[in-house]
Amino acid sequence: MKFFIDTANLEQIKEAQALGILDGVTTNPSLMAKEGITGQDNILKHYVDICSAVTGDVSAEVIATDYEGIVQEGDALAALHPQIVVKVPMIKDGIKAIRYFSDKGIKTNCTLVFSAGQALLAAKAGATYVSPFIGRLDDISTDGLNLIDEIRVIYDNYDFNTQILAASVRHTMHVLECAKIGADVMTGPLSSIVGLLKHPLTDSGLAQFLADHKKGN
Ligand code: E4P
Repeated sequence: MKFFIDTANLEQIKEAQALGILDGVTTNPSLMAKEGITGQDNILKHYVDICSAVTGDVSAEVIATDYEGIVQEGDALAALHPQIVVKVPMIKDGIKAIRYFSDKGIKTNCTLVFSAGQALLAAKAGATYVSPFIGRLDDISTDGLNLIDEIRVIYDNYDFNTQILAASVRHTMHVLECAKIGADVMTGPLSSIVGLLKHPLTDSGLAQFLADHKKGN
């Protein structure tokens, strides 16, 4: 399972990269705004800075919602850096654009996916990644993990190459459940990654080992 970090915060990206377990980064317009990155030039520069800080794929989201606009914006984003994956919303013009990018060999991430039917369309269009938002489904009392399960079954039935990128991951249990189902990738905040480290028995066991070592020396 690949681990992506879902943030535009460079410090957190570098911290995850330094752990040696990071496979990529996802961003979105809200995450960029949260870091105070505004204005087209600053946004494009920030994507390049993120690409320089990591070794894997970096999703950069288009703002346009019409086919021509998505294609123009996506081509420009893809030209920024070889690690850029063009993130396209799950709308009719988005699907058309994903087909265009896919035919051109440009990687895509189909975002804002909330149903298995949408995920099927994204795979048909040749998306590299499909992003079902599990946390946002949980927020409205709908089982987000069940969606990951459904998409896994459908993609396996037809050997689709599109990778299931479990998005809107909020905590460590989301990560573990997605791993059990067989999501190809998860993207979440740094806390959902480093939280996997924690166990009180590890902490108390280590404290005991160190104390015993001290006694014997
Ligand atoms: C996915 O690529 C999105 O950036 C993200 O996972 C959304 O997460 P949220 O629902 O926590 O905002």
